Amino acid sequence: MNSILVLNGPNLNLLGTRQPEVYGSTTLKDIEAACVARGEALGCAVTCQQSNHEGALVDAIHAAKGVHNGIILNAGAYTHTSIALMDAIASVELPVIELHLSNIHAREAFRHKSYIAPVAIGQICGFGANGYMLALDAMKQYLG
Ligand code: DQA
Repeated sequence: MNSILVLNGPNLNLLGTRQPEVYGSTTLKDIEAACVARGEALGCAVTCQQSNHEGALVDAIHAAKGVHNGIILNAGAYTHTSIALMDAIASVELPVIELHLSNIHAREAFRHKSYIAPVAIGQICGFGANGYMLALDAMKQYLG
C-alpha cells in the first residue's frame, strides 16, 4: 500500500480563522481528517504533519525517505524563500506535489516565485481545501 505524507508549513495551523476570505473557513484538523478519509478511499495510507519551523519541515522531508512514497507539501510562506526546503526535496528523491489553497499566481508578486516548483512533480493551487483532495488523487495516479 502506498503511503503519502501531507505536510503543512507555517501558519497553516491557523486555518479556519486565518484570513478566511483568502484561505477559506475549513480548519487544518478538518482538512487532515478529509485527507485520511480520501486516502482510505484510494487505498493509500495518509499521514499528516504540520510545523511552523523551517528546520522541522526539512527534518520531516528527510524522515519521509524510506517511509512514505510521496509528499503533498503546502510550505506556506517558505515556498517563496526556502532554498533549504528545495534542497531537502531534491535530496530525498521522493515525488512532491506543491499545494496552495490560494492561487499564488493571482496574488502579490512575491508569491509568484516558488522554490518548491522546480523540484516538484507538479503544483495545485487556487482550489482551497479541495486542493488537498485533488493532490491526493494526482499522487495516487502518479504512484500507480
Ligand atoms: C499558501 C500561500 C502562501 O503564499 C502563504 O504564505 C501561505 C499559504 C496557500 O496555501 O495559499 O501561508 O501556501
